Amino acid sequence: MIARKKYFLTAIIQLMFLLLINLLCLHAQPSKFVIMTDSRGDDIGVNTPVLSKIINHINANHGDIKFLIFPGDMVSGNKIYPDSTYIQMLHWKDVMRPLYDNPGLIPPKIFITEGNHEIQTRFDENNLRKVFPDMPQNGPDDEKGLTYSFDFGKVHFAVIASNRWYYGNPADTTDDRRDWRYIRHLDWLENDIKKAKENGSEMIFVLSHEPVFPAGGHLRDGLPNLRKDLKLPLDSIRLVYFNRRNEFWKLLKDNGVSAYICGHEHLYARQTVDGVMHITAGSSGAPLYNFNPKYGEGKDEKTETEKEMSYEDALPYYKTLNYDYGETGNCQASPDFFGLKVFHYILFEAGETGLKAVVYGAYPKKGTDDELGSEITILDEFLILPR
Ligand SMILES: [Fe+2]
Repeated sequence: MIARKKYFLTAIIQLMFLLLINLLCLHAQPSKFVIMTDSRGDDIGVNTPVLSKIINHINANHGDIKFLIFPGDMVSGNKIYPDSTYIQMLHWKDVMRPLYDNPGLIPPKIFITEGNHEIQTRFDENNLRKVFPDMPQNGPDDEKGLTYSFDFGKVHFAVIASNRWYYGNPADTTDDRRDWRYIRHLDWLENDIKKAKENGSEMIFVLSHEPVFPAGGHLRDGLPNLRKDLKLPLDSIRLVYFNRRNEFWKLLKDNGVSAYICGHEHLYARQTVDGVMHITAGSSGAPLYNFNPKYGEGKDEKTETEKEMSYEDALPYYKTLNYDYGETGNCQASPDFFGLKVFHYILFEAGETGLKAVVYGAYPKKGTDDELGSEITILDEFLILPR
């Protein structure tokens, strides 16, 4: 009798243990989330028709997402009137209202950081904090709410305000914009990733506005910041910025980051460099860009022409960036480069071995760069694996 009781007790304890493990495993699995950037446009700073269509598509088809991350250029901003930028950001929140009203999302529901368009005057960062007051506050001291990290299941997200990394003249010791943020960022990021791993994170995502490997439209800037009229060899100022960008990418590579996700370039692109996925999720409404120039390709009249450059002018940039792939064999950074000139968002969900990414998007109307010309459909799918 006693032996039977002991047997039942052991069985019940084992069952409870299994239930607990099962429960923990379920909680360890990340649910769905969405990443997208760059929605600026002409309606109070926002491309309202395109962004609304995308948000409604997300809510109708993936209303069970847990959060959305939007690293920058929500709005056009204003160089002179910070109040105008403030109103634009409030309008952006209105357009995103269907997601804010979705009770299934976890606070703050939409994670943001700054792009270059929100921040054009010295008042803009504080206005950004006022409009988005509930971002995590665990970043570097002067960057609370702009640079931060958070965990979801076994995935760790570090969101970085990279917008001002490359401003200022590094050779001018009186220029207080030089080294404004960069070094603190790198220290903070490295510690943050190490801590996350010690705490059991299995995948690390780093998100920011600026591309490390510009794919189209920002070959002259982005994080390499090689600037206009590049002549080789690099001069000392260009070397400072370029080396910092290389140091940042090395940090991601050496610390097992699975993916770096950015915007700034208004196109969709993905490639794997040094084992790290570099994903540009760059338009949920902002005017679409062409990819890095190819010899003989005519300029697209409707694309922002000041950002266009000839293949010949692009060559020293390709050489400096070690771009050995792409359509001309020297215009992109990786043999697996894939890109589309589309409005889009990326849905992530847990797969068996990693995170499955599904890109939903639509092509522009013929002859335009800021109007939808097709229904939103699946345009690409890929897996992001732990490293
Ligand atoms: Fe931008």
